[in-house]
Amino acid sequence: MSTVQIIDHPLIQHKLTLIRDIHTGPKEFRELLDEVSLLMGYEVTRDFPLEDVEVTTPVGQARGKMMSGRKVGLIPILRAGLGMVNGLLRLIPTAKVGHIGVFRDPQTLTPVEYYCKLPEDIQERELVVLDPMLATGGSAATSIDFIKERGGKSIRLMCLIAAPEGIARVQKRHPDVDIYVAAVDERLNDHGYIVPGLGDAGDRLFGTR
Ligand code: PRP
Ligand code: URA
Repeated sequence: MSTVQIIDHPLIQHKLTLIRDIHTGPKEFRELLDEVSLLMGYEVTRDFPLEDVEVTTPVGQARGKMMSGRKVGLIPILRAGLGMVNGLLRLIPTAKVGHIGVFRDPQTLTPVEYYCKLPEDIQERELVVLDPMLATGGSAATSIDFIKERGGKSIRLMCLIAAPEGIARVQKRHPDVDIYVAAVDERLNDHGYIVPGLGDAGDRLFGTR
């Protein structure tokens, strides 16, 4: 079974509270989500493998460590996952970025794929799937299906807020995918929104409603 890590550093909790606030507009929402994504990135990358290297300093030789082997791929689920990309790219500037477009049918809550463009070598990369909201888990579970069908092997999922239902669904379908979240909220409402959550992440990020 995969692990679920709640990254509840005080800075993240503080910024998450501001993100949730109904009075936070799109500009601040974007900035805060970007900052939280960067902060979460420290934990999401914590077990990335290192290798020993030698480095010449102005004074002599030093032994150091550098990230080794596998390269990184970031895969935001459109639209709202886009808000988490730049924070992580600041930590890992060489990461490649794939995109998966999935929306939830508002009536059935079933995920519908409309776009997929991934790096060609995803099978060699440590992949981080990004989406602020893990509600029913349908969008994330389906996106991970697509990634696996196209060769992705080492996958982790990074979300801002999750509902217990979403975590359970992803864990059941993808027991090999570890999940990183800033908070696990109470439940879903009748429309599949996370309670208390933050509302519609895509709309708040892009100001579309
Ligand atoms: C939101 C969110 C997730 C999905 C979560 O996207 O960004 O992708 O819903 O819900 P689920 O866990 O029940 O699948 P939405 O479908 O609203 O699309 P958007 O980002 O384009 O607004
Ligand atoms: N998608 C969102 O953007 N918010 C929710 O609460 C659930 C799904």
